[in-house]
Amino acid sequence: MGKGFAAEGHSSYPFELCPSILSADFNRLGEQLSIASQERIRILHIDVMDGDFVPSISFGMPVIRSIRKESDLFFDVHLMIRDPGRYIQEFVSCGADSITIHVEACEDAEAVLKAIREAGVKAGISIKPHTPVSAISDLLALADLVLVMTVEPGFGGQKYIPECTDKIREVRRLLDEKGLTANVQVDGGINYETAQTVIEAGANYLVAGSTVFNGDMRENIQTMKARINEIVQKLERLKNY
Ligand code: DX5
Ligand code: ZN
Repeated sequence: MGKGFAAEGHSSYPFELCPSILSADFNRLGEQLSIASQERIRILHIDVMDGDFVPSISFGMPVIRSIRKESDLFFDVHLMIRDPGRYIQEFVSCGADSITIHVEACEDAEAVLKAIREAGVKAGISIKPHTPVSAISDLLALADLVLVMTVEPGFGGQKYIPECTDKIREVRRLLDEKGLTANVQVDGGINYETAQTVIEAGANYLVAGSTVFNGDMRENIQTMKARINEIVQKLERLKNY
């Protein structure tokens, strides 16, 4: 990925706010995606749920295919589905730019990550709140993105689970130790307060559903981006002291 909106002065990673359309108003999805683009959002987070790996069912290929025709945002597809290897080619064909799978959902996550890269898109690996980081430590070199879930996957609007903060820190530390530059994404309960916690712990891609879509979306994006900028700049000042 190129430079994020809050990357100025921050040498290491781009920072991105990734709106999750799970909380969008599907009656006006196209209009909301245009607002996101106007507000210089670059990455759209797309949650696909199968009612098996997670209790809920969201949407799938037809929705992605139809918004792909209208939007030039980067489509970050988060697959909360069992045995995701079955569908990689389909999601690429309908317009995914990155595909994130859950280690808990795969027999052979290594093979699926390789297949995602071979299909020409970015590969992400994710862990649920109660899965230890050790479950993915051998997969980090195959991932462009590591998603640390900060709520139980399945629903928007839940509260951030504080025990996940240490896992974000551990993922970033492991990546640094191995000389890897994958993006560290967090998803669930991200708002103006928890943004500080996750950025300080090492996250650089922040998914937000309710914080972006509840109320005035334009205003929410502006406020959240300003907040992320403020946090990053403060960290920079402290680092450079
Ligand atoms: C949860 C999804 C999230 C969800 C986040 O399973 O993966 O992307 O939309 O919603 P908020 O930001 O409302 O917690
Ligand atoms: Zn998600």
